[in-house]
Amino acid sequence: MANNLLFIANWKMNMVYADLISYFNIFLPLFKQTKPINDVVFLPPSTLLFSIKVILEGTDIKWGAQNIYFENQGAFTGEISALMIKDTGSTYVLIGHSERRKYFKESSPIIANKLHKAFSENIIPIVCVGETQEERASGKTFSVLTNQIKPIIKTCQNFINKEIVVAYEPVWAIGTGVNATIEEIKESHSFILSQFLKQSWIDGRNIKIVYGGSVDSKNTPAILSLDVVSGCLVGGASLKPEEFIKIVNTVRS
Ligand code: PGA
Repeated sequence: MANNLLFIANWKMNMVYADLISYFNIFLPLFKQTKPINDVVFLPPSTLLFSIKVILEGTDIKWGAQNIYFENQGAFTGEISALMIKDTGSTYVLIGHSERRKYFKESSPIIANKLHKAFSENIIPIVCVGETQEERASGKTFSVLTNQIKPIIKTCQNFINKEIVVAYEPVWAIGTGVNATIEEIKESHSFILSQFLKQSWIDGRNIKIVYGGSVDSKNTPAILSLDVVSGCLVGGASLKPEEFIKIVNTVRS
């Protein structure tokens, strides 16, 4: 597992151009002042990717898209290709977020195709997995994770030296203010990691497993004290620059 922590801001369908400017007017001076040693990635809505490029180019901060389509170009109204994402200077892409799985019916084969595309275009994928409340309550957490991870691992097999970020986001913890317990996070992250390390061809150094689900500056120190956690995927709390800078300055105890 890699050592430096990774903090990813998932802005979802929030923020317009004026908000972006106001955000970085606060965030960038704080970033320069506090010089976080951790890696930081912003995932704004795709309408803001070119603007974020102008603001962040030349800094240590990276950015990326919240979704990708697996075809290169053509008659796919409303979709965004890998080439378009790369054109905005993006180096990361979020794939298979539970909101995409739920509202846009993204299935495991679709997610695997998107992952394949990201790998082949040298965009670092952040692939989300996680169980619902009902699945956890009925003892299905590990079988759900296994089913979600299998097609991801199968795709990785064709790209053995590529970097991948897996985000463990229990669906019931997203946007609810109820984050998973340290024990639950430890158990799920260890399980996910073990599924990858079972494969003889996997180089563990290329895999980061980040936690997401109601992360804030108060709960990050405990979450990051687990060495199976490589960072956090942050939704709501990343929309507030003063809060997000505190999160990205968390050091592992
Ligand atoms: P949250 O969202 O931090 O608001 O719970 C996390 C996510 O959905 O990525």
